[in-house]
Amino acid sequence: MKILDGKLLSKKIKEEIKLEVDGFLSNGYRAPHLVAVLVGEDPASKFYVKSKMKSCEQVGFRSTNMVVDKSITQLDLLSIIGDLNKDQGVDGYIVQLPLPEHLDVDIVLEAISPDKDVDGFHPVNMGKLILGLDTFVPATPLGIIEIIKRYNIPTEGKDVVIVGRSNIVGKPMSICLSQKGYPGNSTVTIVHSRSKNIEEKLKQADIIIAAIGKPNFVKEHMVKEGAVVIDVGINRVEDSSKKSGYSLVGDVDFDNVAPKCSYITPVPGGVGLMTVTALMINTLKSYKKKYEFE
Ligand code: GUN
Repeated sequence: MKILDGKLLSKKIKEEIKLEVDGFLSNGYRAPHLVAVLVGEDPASKFYVKSKMKSCEQVGFRSTNMVVDKSITQLDLLSIIGDLNKDQGVDGYIVQLPLPEHLDVDIVLEAISPDKDVDGFHPVNMGKLILGLDTFVPATPLGIIEIIKRYNIPTEGKDVVIVGRSNIVGKPMSICLSQKGYPGNSTVTIVHSRSKNIEEKLKQADIIIAAIGKPNFVKEHMVKEGAVVIDVGINRVEDSSKKSGYSLVGDVDFDNVAPKCSYITPVPGGVGLMTVTALMINTLKSYKKKYEFE
């Protein structure tokens, strides 16, 4: 069993990005600039945005964290988005999700200019992904693709089961792995809350991608010997032995599943860090497109 080390890989990719950015700076160009819009004070969202800002610093990007009050009206948020779309000094931006209930996430995401949509959530970018056109692949699937590529995990003809059908992970991941080329050419099944015989389907899988948000959902008896297991879950569970009172666990029962796997991602230290790194990849891509380096 080998660990797919998201921490090590993130560090390596961030070093590569930093080298490129240093090159741009020494040629007189400005640094790439990522903005994160955070609506309200949700602790998990605050934590994620903070880690995105920290990664920007590590790769030499400029970053701005725009914190707006959770009572902001839809119209005022759309006005901020309109300004970010026009701002030539912003290469990419994200609106951290989830949004407070009074805001319509679909309208908000559709207002983001597709050229600056480094999360890849805009319908135009999702459409391009389905058509196999160049686009911003959403950060979590992109992070997983980088893991698969850099560990040379074969995907051609493999049976992949994705647990979870979210717009952010499950759906785009299914598109990426079933498209032509590498990493792709897989036969993909998505299972979700209404699926029948999930355990039997998982047991057939060469590659399992767990993105359902339920702690320790994937158990030892559901996994085939030699499977590749990629765990997207980051669940807080009570843990009185920890100072914080909780520990982070994935959607996979790691201790019992790991011995059966050929490869597995740990939580933490797996997909989560790669998601943030993938956002850096997309921001650099947006910057390079603007200056026609690509
Ligand atoms: N909330 C959870 N994951 C994400 C993400 O990848 N992007 C944004 N904007 N919000 C999220």
